[in-house]
Amino acid sequence: MTRINADFTLQAFLDVHKTLIFKEPAMDTQPTTGDHLSSSQVHDSDKALESATAGLPAPDGPRAFRVTLARQHRSVEVPAEVSLLDALEAAGVIIPSVCREGHCGTCECAVLEGAVEHHDQILGPDERASNKIMMVCVSRAQGEHLVLDV
Ligand code: FES
Repeated sequence: MTRINADFTLQAFLDVHKTLIFKEPAMDTQPTTGDHLSSSQVHDSDKALESATAGLPAPDGPRAFRVTLARQHRSVEVPAEVSLLDALEAAGVIIPSVCREGHCGTCECAVLEGAVEHHDQILGPDERASNKIMMVCVSRAQGEHLVLDV
């Protein structure tokens, strides 16, 4: 049920986003190729989309990604069917964990780079959007790569 609501919310945002960004030019202006949006408008629009989709689950289910452990100077591959915490443990990285379900906050890790797909029950909207912390037992990378302060 949650996935359906999240997908609906994302799709609704994207529809509004397209409407606002790609609206028809005024009748008295003649658009020319490449001048519909300035680079700052495109950048602002990308930032708005990134912010609005922060923490939403991937619409097509979990994906594999790579996590770089900055303090250990190494990377770990996280398969789609494996949690980040399990992948770290399999690589010999010890992260304290109690619930392993996103409820307790024990496994919180600092994020240095990358967007997080949050699945925990702890962080608020601002914390999620900041991409500064994550619960590695349930949360994943939104893209293909994360860098953790581990
Ligand atoms: S182990 Fe409890 S939130 Fe991750």
